[in-house]
Amino acid sequence: MLELKHLSYAVQEGGSSLGILNDISLTVGDGKLVVFTGPNGGGKTTLAKSIMGLVTPTAGQILWNGKDITGLGITERAKLGISYGFQQPPRFKGLTVRDLLTLASGNERLSKDRCCQYLTRVGLCANDYLDREVDASLSGGEVKRIEIASILARQGRLMIFDEPEAGIDLWSFARLTETFEQLHAAGGATMIIISHQERIISLADEVIVVGEGRLRHRGAPEEILPQILSDTLGGCPVLTKEANAL
Ligand SMILES: Nc1ncnc2c1ncn2[C@@H]1O[C@H](COP(=O)(O)OP(=O)(O)OP(=O)(O)O)[C@@H](O)[C@H]1O
Ligand SMILES: [Mg+2]
Repeated sequence: MLELKHLSYAVQEGGSSLGILNDISLTVGDGKLVVFTGPNGGGKTTLAKSIMGLVTPTAGQILWNGKDITGLGITERAKLGISYGFQQPPRFKGLTVRDLLTLASGNERLSKDRCCQYLTRVGLCANDYLDREVDASLSGGEVKRIEIASILARQGRLMIFDEPEAGIDLWSFARLTETFEQLHAAGGATMIIISHQERIISLADEVIVVGEGRLRHRGAPEEILPQILSDTLGGCPVLTKEANAL
């Protein structure tokens, strides 16, 4: 179980403190699939990075299975089974796709079959990619899918995906959605997916709308989706209603 308790993150800007995350408290139960959505700049990535240890909160606590991990680094959190796929994945010159998947899996060697299974789940053919370097020669969509495959290879207990749909074509997106659905049905991992896609939002046990560094609204997809979809003109009714209520 993941618990965030009064989590805040502020940066100093022009001599004053700017709140990026403001007093966020939430619990994600084991095996749940939670989707964070909301406007650009709302704080979703910062929240995800705080859970992974890439951003150090200025206040509050993060508990993973009852253990306070607020002060732990990325490696220690990874050892506890937490993984995060970047919104814009880094590239690694000199490292092949096979190396990346092997490193992620924690094994000394990963069979071609196994690599193939992970790559197929993100719609890639192992024959075409296993020996390619994870460098600038890969397209944006390819590098994104390879990173998602590496998270699958890690077989973590908490998987955080930051806009997995970004840059991914429609055919691969359908495959990816299916993969998330299967992972969730298998029940082995807790998943947090940051997404703006209706298809992914509809898979969630709970949808959390993050705006202005706060949890603006939360509920089941069937409750939240109509409100998001109706927000085609002007201000978002969900955000403004909730903002006024706070
Ligand atoms: N170190 C920083 N210094 C100043 N501002 C920052 C810093 N880190 C994040 N921000 C700001 O905090 C806000 C939240 O950023 P974040 O990347 O978490 O948003 P997001 O919800 O993931 O947005 P998107 O949907 O565009 O990915 C943005 O306005 C961003 O510019
Ligand atoms: Mg983001």
